[in-house]
Amino acid sequence: MSSPQTADVLVAGMNIVDILVRLPEKIQHGEKHEIRGLLIQGGAPAGNAASLLASLGWRTGFIARMGNDTLSNIARAEFIRHGVLEDYFIPDASALPGVALVEIDPATGERTVFYTLNGYRSLRREDIPAAAVQRAKLILVDGYETEAALAMLEAAQGTNCRSVLDLEAGEPAMLRKLVELGTDIILPLGAAQRLSGESDAAAALQKLSAWTRGQVLVTDGAKGSWAWTPQGVFHQPAFKVDVVDTTGCGDAYHAAYASALLDGLPLRLRMEFASWVAAQVALKLGGRSNLPTRSSLRRADTSRLSPELKQHLGS
Ligand SMILES: Nc1ncnc2c1ncn2[C@@H]1O[C@H](COP(=O)(O)OP(=O)(O)OP(=O)(O)O)[C@@H](O)[C@H]1O
Ligand SMILES: [Mg+2]
Repeated sequence: MSSPQTADVLVAGMNIVDILVRLPEKIQHGEKHEIRGLLIQGGAPAGNAASLLASLGWRTGFIARMGNDTLSNIARAEFIRHGVLEDYFIPDASALPGVALVEIDPATGERTVFYTLNGYRSLRREDIPAAAVQRAKLILVDGYETEAALAMLEAAQGTNCRSVLDLEAGEPAMLRKLVELGTDIILPLGAAQRLSGESDAAAALQKLSAWTRGQVLVTDGAKGSWAWTPQGVFHQPAFKVDVVDTTGCGDAYHAAYASALLDGLPLRLRMEFASWVAAQVALKLGGRSNLPTRSSLRRADTSRLSPELKQHLGS
């Protein structure tokens, strides 16, 4: 086998196919309903983040076991559609992606998720190409594939490779280890509360920040995001948009933050960019339906952005 192309960004995390259904206003149980909003698409935090990073022009590899069945072919094609490198897929005829059925409430955009991991094969430490991690500029890992996440973070220690962590779920002792090793740790508020034992966002941030030399952030949907800084807690409001479906907002936030980090932007602009990109994702059904590219960013309406971010985007 030829050696894999060098990746700027290596991502490892759950490999999932989403089936998204925008429910009708009224449902009669036992009846058939024709709907306009039904979509099959690649999903999951790390998968969506890898797709956005590739879409933004970073050479991005996704590490996952890939089978040959119909669902695996959908997962694979969905990565390729956004430009994710195939080089880091691990051929495994017996592996299936997970499947998530995502029901979206038409009134609120809120989601209810039913998922199965039947036939799913998790990554093992030996699946992680440590040398490729050490050559990468950034890794992004989740709390679902923790053995892989830990192996990647350990490989990245002592290098300039940055590490963005998406820890919306996971076992607390393992998550703590990951927090300790990461450079940029972003958790939804609920996960930060569970892990820290603190109910207040600022207290949770402070506690988690004491575990790590990394930058810790917390997100809370339409309420925005918070970062712990030496000057205190910084809040970035969310951008108000007409929400269709919030699937993938958190995933996009992580990836856009990572892209801004690679671009060398300071924390506040990373958070502003991440919030702005995440809000765009909420405009369409599915977590990968409205991912920007570098050129679409140059054409985008940037009127609500700070002068500094506008300047960076060249608009
Ligand atoms: N309804 C919304 N309107 C505008 N922006 C939003 C909305 N929901 C989320 N966002 C943006 O996305 C960020 C991350 O969202 P959230 O805190 O819901 O992450 P999450 O729980 O990880 O989501 P996901 O389910 O995608 O994993 C928020 O901080 C905000 O900037
Ligand atoms: Mg999330």
